[in-house]
Amino acid sequence: MARVTIFGAGYVGVPTGAHFARTHRVTIYDPDNNKVENINKVIDNDSDSLHIHEKGLIELLQENHENIVATTDISLALDRPEIIFIAVGTPPNEKGRANLKYVCAAAEQIAKNVKNDCVVLNKSTVPPGTAYLVKEIIDKHLVNDVKISVGSCPEFLAEGTAVEDLRTPDRIVYGCDDTEALDKVTEFFLYLHGRSTLSPMTTLSSEVTKYAANALLATKISFMNSLAILCDAVGANIREVQEGVGKDTRVGRKFLNASMGYGGSCFPKDTSAIAEYGQLFSSPLEIIESTILVNDKTIKYFSEKIIHAFGDDLSDKNFIIWGIGFKARTDDLRESKPVQVARELMDRGAHVHIYDTVKGALENFKVENPSYEGKYSVYHEQYEMVNGNIDGLIIGNEHEKFRNPDVEKLENMRGKYIFDGKNVLNNHLIKSLKRKGFNYRSVGKDTVANAVDKTKLIDFLKNQYMD
Ligand SMILES: NC(=O)c1ccc[n+]([C@@H]2O[C@H](COP(=O)([O-])OP(=O)(O)OC[C@H]3O[C@@H](n4cnc5c(N)ncnc54)[C@H](O)[C@@H]3O)[C@@H](O)[C@H]2O)c1
Repeated sequence: MARVTIFGAGYVGVPTGAHFARTHRVTIYDPDNNKVENINKVIDNDSDSLHIHEKGLIELLQENHENIVATTDISLALDRPEIIFIAVGTPPNEKGRANLKYVCAAAEQIAKNVKNDCVVLNKSTVPPGTAYLVKEIIDKHLVNDVKISVGSCPEFLAEGTAVEDLRTPDRIVYGCDDTEALDKVTEFFLYLHGRSTLSPMTTLSSEVTKYAANALLATKISFMNSLAILCDAVGANIREVQEGVGKDTRVGRKFLNASMGYGGSCFPKDTSAIAEYGQLFSSPLEIIESTILVNDKTIKYFSEKIIHAFGDDLSDKNFIIWGIGFKARTDDLRESKPVQVARELMDRGAHVHIYDTVKGALENFKVENPSYEGKYSVYHEQYEMVNGNIDGLIIGNEHEKFRNPDVEKLENMRGKYIFDGKNVLNNHLIKSLKRKGFNYRSVGKDTVANAVDKTKLIDFLKNQYMD
């Protein structure tokens, strides 16, 4: 059992702390008193509500209550930790670069308060070289005569499945140029995971690995999204194409779902950050730059389908959005595509009626959109707002509840439009909706509901392919 401290009680810090507490003694440090109180109440079985929503997290904190505590007290936080993980935010600045001010502030706090030898690892997603910067800051501000090694341990959990991702990771990547420190980290993780899961490496390689992994996943999505737009144009079905491509084990099925674009706190931020980093090093990453462009284009493509159906002025229109979190089962709205769609519609005068399975997502929407007050309503029941005033339904994320809507209830809507931003409705359902007079719009499978114009295609081939 090791003593570890985690800086940052956010989407990464809390689930990571709860997971480590299975076999180690964990202190989570955050200057935000509300978050810290929240966590401690949950640990003490005094509350069952946290500031972040993750399946199984509350139970895990309570199971391991003897091994975990949260604090705003820096001296308690730095009471003899063997390993310190920095998991503070690295939000993008206006140039798309990761803002390192929170990481640097944490480094300075560590330097000024640490009283024993230890290893500091960046868990935050940071530009390669940041561990060296953290080491420089620590050396500059160090008060006591102790040895601090610095490395990186990027996090790969996904929001919504964080607890399970942490329990059964594909790999744990960590890097440190100090081999003694690297061995110590290996020993720490061996308490939690098998050796084959561990990927120790140099500091810089581990930092590059994080960006490379996220950028590659985002690229798979944008690759399929650009083909989805072609599928709509020609009359093919992207879901079928995805199936055909993904069954090739060299490609794999994951991250091939076409949709209105990827969002969340990581992919948009990390693709921009590494693309910008490549530019600064005169090593442009053209494929990642295209990934970003396609993502911006895809959300516009989807929003324009709604606008095209109703016209530019939506002042007397009412829309339902099912799913406002950037994906199912999260309250995180950072870079959420359904939020972008909601704002676009409200800007054009529409009223949006929002439902999400996660209460916190609706609360966050209110907090983050004060200027839109009066232009939207939020609901805690999926069909509460389905009535004769509604012009269209927008499916914002992939939750199971949205895959099989109650069609009888939807027939109460005055407008018969369904905009499937995640392509989650199956072909059978789409065809039966079509028979009931609904218009179905998606990203790459519109022709499930509309016959392919074969004459147009034949003419196209005759005109363009006969020389
Ligand atoms: N959210 C994800 O799914 C995810 C996944 C992998 C990696 N990451 C990366 O992990 C990092 C953290 O992301 P997040 O989503 O948990 O962020 P978050 O915004 O949810 O949490 C960050 C926390 O850090 C705290 N903080 C700020 N300054 C601090 C300081 N000096 N000391 C201690 N705490 C401090 C904040 O109060 C906040 O609670 C980011 O770099 C992110 O890119 C996030």
